[in-house]
Amino acid sequence: MFKTPRGVQDVLPADISKWQTIEEKILKLCKLYDYKEIRIPVFEYTNVFKRENDTSDMVNKEMYTFTTGSDSYTLRPEGTAGVIRSFVENKLYVNDLPVKLFYMGEMFRHEKPQKGRYRQFNQFGIENIGVKNPIVDAEVIALGYNILKEIGIRDISVKINTLGDKESRDNYRKVLLDYFKDKLDDLCFDCQNRYEKNPLRILDCKIDADKESIKNAPIMMDSLNKESKDYFDSVLRALEALDIPYVIDEKLVRGLDYYTHTVFEVISNSKEMAQSTIFGGGRYDGLVKYFNGPDMSGVGFAIGLERLLLISEMENIDLSKKDELDVYIINLSVNDFYGLKVASKVRELGYSCELNFVDRSMKSQFKSSDRYNSKAIIIIGEDEIKEDKINIKSNKTKEQVRIELNDLKEKLEKIIEG
Ligand code: HAM
Repeated sequence: MFKTPRGVQDVLPADISKWQTIEEKILKLCKLYDYKEIRIPVFEYTNVFKRENDTSDMVNKEMYTFTTGSDSYTLRPEGTAGVIRSFVENKLYVNDLPVKLFYMGEMFRHEKPQKGRYRQFNQFGIENIGVKNPIVDAEVIALGYNILKEIGIRDISVKINTLGDKESRDNYRKVLLDYFKDKLDDLCFDCQNRYEKNPLRILDCKIDADKESIKNAPIMMDSLNKESKDYFDSVLRALEALDIPYVIDEKLVRGLDYYTHTVFEVISNSKEMAQSTIFGGGRYDGLVKYFNGPDMSGVGFAIGLERLLLISEMENIDLSKKDELDVYIINLSVNDFYGLKVASKVRELGYSCELNFVDRSMKSQFKSSDRYNSKAIIIIGEDEIKEDKINIKSNKTKEQVRIELNDLKEKLEKIIEG
């Protein structure tokens, strides 16, 4: 038996329309907010993702990396790094700022699979690059929030925090080093390593999360300089102006290392989803420069599309579209070209059409036409082939007539549009 690897799944035809509905709604919102699509490669040189001093689990434990010759490549675990690499490589910054980009596609992380957590999953993400303004941060959050609203998801919370600027983070680092100095024995092995490299990451540890030492750790807010505090306050005021409810989560640090200032996560409140994150993002001051671009800041988020679908189902939102067929052709001479000619004519007129190719009874083919629930049924037998005619039946009125093939357009229009 051949199977998909663990954490990887097929999307079967029966579910495709749900994905298409979500994609359509997302594209509609991107148009309203004037984001342009970018398509970046599925794999990049490893150094695009594995940047100096990165301490995140995603980069250090979860990447699918392979080598050919002396080159190391990695399947993209997220979209931001590739987008910024492309932004710099293609000098997208030379015109009006901000540059507003969106992307959709597969990401790969070697995580422990569970409901809503896969090894191959799809993200929709946006990056707004080149303007540093707290109002932009709020507008970015609003776009994600409005996508969920457009889909009909209601039971969510917006969690927000700030990591401040470099000076504030350096202050905070010192405070954390001091605080955890005599508590290291209490922390897991990974956190003991994180202590030196990036003590902020200790706060994000899944193993130690419930320990008293983490719960009582000093908060970032108390280490912020005035500039960072003001920036964060302005983001909050802008969210209020947009009527977006939020909760400040002082422990929110995000799982990636590039964030500065605003970080946010939108979670489902549903118990079944164990409060899982639907989308997360934030501002990044240093990433464009890291890729040898200008000193420009960016802000963005990514939504996990599988989670979006799961949560929609949980909230009883029906995203599926009815599969509709215009014409089913009952073909009693499967080895003659006439059926093919008729089907081709129907499709040229712009109507979808299914033609029977299996040598079987009229009754059995009528049963198929019932399953397709087509608006019109065409029946072709030997007499029709000889005389260049067709039988055509409306599924709605059940009226059946025999017509010249030349009159197909007029009759079909009446049945389908009338
Ligand atoms: P992230 O928080 O790592 O951020 O991922 C964003 C979203 O992708 C998550 O909230 C979740 O819905 C989904 N996701 C992540 N991992 C998995 C998984 N294993 N299975 C299913 N869904 C998953 C980023 O990726 C950043 N690039 C977001 C960003 C854009 N920040 C700034 N710009």
